[in-house]
Amino acid sequence: MSIPLQSQLPRTYRIKEIKQETEMVRTYTFDGSLGAKPGQFVMVWLPGIDENPMSVAYDDGAVTKITFFAVGDMSEALAEKQVGDLVGLRGPFGTFYEWKPGEHIALVAGGYGAAPMYFIAENSVAHGCTLEVIIGARGKEHLLYLQEFEKLPHVSLHIATNDGSMGYKGYNTDVLEKLLASCPVEKKGKGKPDCSPIDQVFACGPEMMLKKISEVTAKYKIPSQLSLERYMKCGYGLCGNCVVDPLGIRLCIEGPVVKNDTCVKIEEFGKYHRDDLGKKKEFPLP
Ligand SMILES: Cc1cc2nc3c(=O)[nH]c(=O)nc-3n(C[C@H](O)[C@H](O)[C@H](O)COP(=O)(O)OP(=O)(O)OC[C@H]3O[C@@H](n4cnc5c(N)ncnc54)[C@H](O)[C@@H]3O)c2cc1C
Ligand code: FES
Repeated sequence: MSIPLQSQLPRTYRIKEIKQETEMVRTYTFDGSLGAKPGQFVMVWLPGIDENPMSVAYDDGAVTKITFFAVGDMSEALAEKQVGDLVGLRGPFGTFYEWKPGEHIALVAGGYGAAPMYFIAENSVAHGCTLEVIIGARGKEHLLYLQEFEKLPHVSLHIATNDGSMGYKGYNTDVLEKLLASCPVEKKGKGKPDCSPIDQVFACGPEMMLKKISEVTAKYKIPSQLSLERYMKCGYGLCGNCVVDPLGIRLCIEGPVVKNDTCVKIEEFGKYHRDDLGKKKEFPLP
């Protein structure tokens, strides 16, 4: 895959709008498009501070959005920016979610994963898809993009919160499993008239959530596409920091969106990742 030189170099974009989503989460709308597709990411650069990968939350050919948590040095500095300020962006990079017109798709989101899932939803309903959107969070105050999903046609919204403050009490992956079990793929064209099996599952969120979705979709034999994250430096295949064991694929090129057939062959998936120096760091058990 060749990435044009102009995408490899940062260009500055002006912040047109800021939305405070929750206490720690903000969405920035930049004046200008990078031509990103749902699932792709950009490298967000603050000169003198750092450069971090972030999923494109939206790109309609006129504006680009990112939704981020202010959790560390770079993201907290980013959260200080105001409307009119300039931010460096490179990209878009990586793979994207793929679907066929008219499919019945389940979108599963945890954390900022709701943002790229909304980007998919907006595009795929325009292609005649029907969606089961399953959003999970610790509590209702952390749920993202609810109002945006509610406004879309052909979307059934399912909510899961760990503390039970809204929707199902438990994990969004439990909701997905119930949905897949209620209308298994073997019933296609045979079962109850209201049963329309899920054609694909797309997910973005914490790695342990993705691992569970990988297992559940394999069990029910439903294709899934998962957005995997590793420490990224260059974003276009040069540094090797985002390589995963034992396949050796670079998640900035062959990912971040990876089909589950490949995810199941990644031994470190759900077990460990590597920091900026390449040292292994285990994922905490759920
Ligand atoms: C493909 C991809 C898409 C992402 N999309 C989003 C998004 O849409 N919204 C969002 O809030 N965050 C996203 N992230 C995470 C984001 O890149 C940073 O991890 C996060 O902003 C914290 O960085 P920090 O420097 O502020 O915090 P720090 O305290 O410096 O870092 C906290 C942790 O973030 C991770 N991290 C830091 N820098 C990087 C890096 N360059 N590459 C990967 N991980 C890093 C490390 O695990 C680190 O331990 C994404 C990461 C990847 C790989
Ligand atoms: S981030 Fe450099 S090779 Fe992927």
